[in-house]
Amino acid sequence: MSDEKSFHMTPDEFRRYGHTVVDWIADYHSRIESFPVLSQVKPGEIRASLPADPPAHGEPFDILMKDVENLILPGVTHWQSPNFFAYFPCNASGPGILGDLLSSGLGVQGMLWSTSPACTELETHVLDWLVTMLGLPDKFLSSSTGGGVIQDTASSAALCALLAARERATNYISNKKGCDGRIVAYVSTQTHSSLQKAAMIAGIGVDNLRSIEVDENFAMRPDLLARQIEADKRAGLVPSFVCATVGTTSSNAMDPIAEIARVAHQHNLWLHVDAAMSGTAALCPEFRPLQKGVELAESYNFNPHKWMFTNFDCNCFWVADRKALIQTLSILPEYLRNQATESGAVIDYRDWHIQLGRRFRSLKLWFVIRHYGVEGLQHHIRRHVELAQQFAGWVRNDKHFELAAPAPLNLVCFRHKAGDAANQTIMDRLNRSGDLFLTHTKLNGKLTLRLCVGQTNTQARHVERAWQRIREEADKLTAVA
Ligand SMILES: Cc1ncc(COP(=O)(O)O)c(C=O)c1O
Repeated sequence: MSDEKSFHMTPDEFRRYGHTVVDWIADYHSRIESFPVLSQVKPGEIRASLPADPPAHGEPFDILMKDVENLILPGVTHWQSPNFFAYFPCNASGPGILGDLLSSGLGVQGMLWSTSPACTELETHVLDWLVTMLGLPDKFLSSSTGGGVIQDTASSAALCALLAARERATNYISNKKGCDGRIVAYVSTQTHSSLQKAAMIAGIGVDNLRSIEVDENFAMRPDLLARQIEADKRAGLVPSFVCATVGTTSSNAMDPIAEIARVAHQHNLWLHVDAAMSGTAALCPEFRPLQKGVELAESYNFNPHKWMFTNFDCNCFWVADRKALIQTLSILPEYLRNQATESGAVIDYRDWHIQLGRRFRSLKLWFVIRHYGVEGLQHHIRRHVELAQQFAGWVRNDKHFELAAPAPLNLVCFRHKAGDAANQTIMDRLNRSGDLFLTHTKLNGKLTLRLCVGQTNTQARHVERAWQRIREEADKLTAVA
């Protein structure tokens, strides 16, 4: 045994401090409603409270935890508050957090099957489970021609889909020679901005990303898609990819996948379906008609890190033809060669996404699915939808407010009839109060408030209080007027 000085945390210290951290997290979740949901700090305030220089000598763990409480917590926006109704949820849960902790504890890097077989095989297995749980087509199963992989985000999944589409459309030439400016991709005016970024990174270029107009429900119009593809073909361009969305970010619009697929396949385009938040709803068979036609997609993704109680980050991405994806992203330098890879009997997930290294993310997903069971997951998703629908009903029946879009699931887009300034004031005051957190979008050019129910612990009383607070702020406006 060496008696060399060590600065490491001993296993006993780790055990003790680990209990402290888990206790702190449990207490945080118990008292989360006492904090303003949206952090109230000003830009630069958190940094100003931190020492200018790093410590020359290690510090006691207790001091670190005090600083988390006193210096960090004021700068936290409480995404895990049941009064968080902004954007889309990024919900977490006990089993998800503990699965993530285990992943850190094991500390494996699963770039190849051989660098930790369990990391690969559990992931393949859980993604196969999800195909069944979500009613997705069998072609996404690993036992078929396709398969699933965990990505960090929906943005990365979309980029991978676009790259595979680009390669397929150019017979794998653009990976060698680069793009020639002729490849075209299609989204709707409501598609998430990550597709624009994907077009930039993939070398398609934003000028070659066509934004197709939507109908009165903010869903892509397949007739206009067909017309645009034909025009592009006539101009000598190469249409390669279209993205349909299940639950757009602004208003939760559902693109007509089956009709889009018909157009896409007539012209040999790759159809990617982005179901970032709303894909979780497919756990409940009654919501599956919202993604009718999904069996026609070349790829599909959803984020358990949004609405399925699996803490960030965790995106599930499936392809119908894994060969196309692997051929697009495969690299094999000498230092990664190994017998398992060469045998062809294993999946090496490094070929299924952008980065090489990868965390053991399937552990947290596995924990969530096993803790809740399908029944538990369905219960909470149905409850969230029910609460959002109740809220939509209150809006519908209020003479000062109106719904701004259909509310098929857990997102309600609404506005005060007095116009943009009134809605902005209501939202700013609510968010400043710390009682709840709402965000906005623009629909048909009008500022629209969004209330999304999806945080793990949101219950009826939180939604009721949100509506009460919204009406209070609206009443103040009417009183002033
Ligand atoms: C429909 C849709 N797609 C993609 C994204 C991007 O998600 P991520 O942060 O996982 O890249 C979002 C984010 O809200 C989204 O709503």
